Amino acid sequence: MSIKPEIQKLRDLKEQSKLGGGQARIDAQHKRGKLTAHERIDLLLDKGSFRELDAFVQHRTTDFGIDKNRPLGDSCVTGWGTIDGRLVYVYSQDFTVFGGSLSSVHAQKICKVMDMAMKTGAPVIGLCDSGGARIQEGVNSLEGYSNIFLRNTQASGVVPQISAIMGPCAGGAVYSPALTDFIFMVEGTSYMYVTGPDVVKAVTQEDVTHEELGGASAHASKSGVCHYVAETEADCLFLIRILMSFLPQNNMEDAPYRATSDDPLRTEDELDTIVPDDPTKPYDIKDVVKLIVDDGNFFEIHKDYAANMVVGFARLGGHSVGIVGNQPAVLAGVIDIHAAEKAARFVRFCDCFNIPIITFEDVPGYMVGTAQEYNGIIRHGAKLLYAYCEATVPKITVITRKAYGGAYCVMNSKSTRSDLNLAWPGSEIAVMGPQGAVNVLFRRELAALEDPEPRRQELIQEYKDRFANPYVAASYGHVDDVIEPSTTRPRLINALEVLQNKRDENPPKKHGNMPL
Ligand code: HXC
Repeated sequence: MSIKPEIQKLRDLKEQSKLGGGQARIDAQHKRGKLTAHERIDLLLDKGSFRELDAFVQHRTTDFGIDKNRPLGDSCVTGWGTIDGRLVYVYSQDFTVFGGSLSSVHAQKICKVMDMAMKTGAPVIGLCDSGGARIQEGVNSLEGYSNIFLRNTQASGVVPQISAIMGPCAGGAVYSPALTDFIFMVEGTSYMYVTGPDVVKAVTQEDVTHEELGGASAHASKSGVCHYVAETEADCLFLIRILMSFLPQNNMEDAPYRATSDDPLRTEDELDTIVPDDPTKPYDIKDVVKLIVDDGNFFEIHKDYAANMVVGFARLGGHSVGIVGNQPAVLAGVIDIHAAEKAARFVRFCDCFNIPIITFEDVPGYMVGTAQEYNGIIRHGAKLLYAYCEATVPKITVITRKAYGGAYCVMNSKSTRSDLNLAWPGSEIAVMGPQGAVNVLFRRELAALEDPEPRRQELIQEYKDRFANPYVAASYGHVDDVIEPSTTRPRLINALEVLQNKRDENPPKKHGNMPL
C-alpha cells in the first residue's frame, strides 16, 4: 500500500529534525566520544517511551546571516518518557546545531517541559551540551536563560531536577544546572565554566586547559559543583536511572518502596567490633553504613568532595533514606566549611522530598584555625545547623563514637528536633575531648606543678570516666537509648516504621534567612 504524501512528508520532516546539524556534525560528535541528543535520551528512558515535543520549532533570527540555517527543532530535543515506568520530562541539548547554544526558541522548549513537569508533578532531567547563550540572538537569548532560571527556582523543592553535563558547557549553560538538585559529569568529555580557556587567557592571562578549568574531576573534588562523575556517557545515564529509583516524583509523594529479601531483623556482629578501641584510630564509616542498609547498597553522592563527610542514598526495609555520616577515616571526621555545606545541601534535599535522614555521628568537632575562620566556618558551619533544625522529615541519629562540642549539636542532636537518638556503648559525648578539657579547666593547677604529667593523666582519666561515655547524655534523655551496635539495622527499620506518619511543621513565613 502506498503511503499518503502528507504522511510521507511528516516522516521526512521528523527524520530531518532528528538529524539536527547534519550527518557530518553527528560524526564529529561521535568521534569525540559523545552521543547525540537523541541517542542520550534513548539510553536514559525506558525503551520506546519517549514522546518528543516541538520537533518542528525553528529559530527566527536573521542577524549574522543565520536565517539561512534553521534546523528543525533548533538545538534542543524535548519531551517526556519514563524511567522504570515512572514519568519524567527531559531536555537534551544538541551540540550539532550552533554548538547547542541557547536561542529563545530553545529556551521556550525547555520552559514548556518544565511547566508541564510542575503541573503534573514529575522530575525534570536536563542533558546539557551547550556553548551558552546564542551569541547571534543577543539579549533575547539572555532573556531565554532568565526564563529558565525562574522555572528552575520555582521548581526547586517541588519536583526533583537533575542535570547531566555531557559536553563543554559555558555561561548560562552552567547556571541553570547550578540551580538544580544534582549535577552529573562525564570524565574527559564534559566541562563546566563561566567561560572557556580562551576568554580566561584574554582576561586574566592565565593559561589553563579545559580539563583543569572545568573538567569533571575539578568540579567533583575542588569546587564541589559536580555530585557524580561517570566514566562514560552511557554510565552517566544509567546512574541517573539509579538515582531516580530513590526519589519520589514530587514533594507531595513518598519515595518509592522497593521490596527486599534482606531481613529487616538482621543483626550484624561485625558492627560490635568495627570501631577501634583506641579513640584516635580511624575506621571507614561507609563500612558501617553498608553493613546496615538493605543488601549493602549505598549510592554515595559527592564522593570526591569533602570526604570527611559522607552523604548518599540507601534503603532500609525497602524505604529510601538519606545517609549523612562523619567520616573518621578522613581528617578524623572533623566538620570543615566544605563538609558542612555538602551535608547541609543534602539534608535540605531530603527534607524537600520526604526522604528520612539517618545520621551516623563520629565527630571530634568543627575545624579550627585561621584558614577556616577567614573563609567563614562560622557562617558556613551554621548552614548545617540550619538545615537540620529546619528539616521536618523523620530524623534519626546513631552516635558510633565521638560527639563533641558544636559538632554534637549540629549532627541532629535531640533538641534540634531529632526523632530518635541512639548511641553505641563506646560513645564519647561531651563539650570537648579529655585533653582539651583538662587543659582548660586545670591550667593553673597544672602550671603550678613541677611535674604536671601524673596529675594531668589522673584528671584526664577522671574526665573520661565522667563524660567519655553515652550514659550521662542518656541520663538526661539527650540520647534515647544505648544499643548494641549489632542491632542497629533492626532498630533503625523499626524506628522508620514508627515514624512513617510523622507530621511536623515550621512556623508560617515567606522563607527563612539561611546563612548563605
Ligand atoms: C552561537 C556557538 C556558541 C554560542 C559555540 N557555537 N558556542 N554559536 N553561540 N554561544 C558554535 C561555534 O561557532 C561552532 O560553529 C559550533 O558551535 C561548535 O563550536 P566550536 O567552538 O567549534 O566547538 P569547541 O571547540 O568544542 O568549543 C565549544 C565551546 C566554544 C567551548 C563551547 O564554542 C565556546 O567557547 N563557545 C562560547 C562559550 C561562551 O563563552 N558562552 C557564553 C555565552 S554568555 P561552527 O559553525 O563554526 O561549527 C552566556 C550568558 C548567560 O551564556 C548568562 C547567565 C547568567
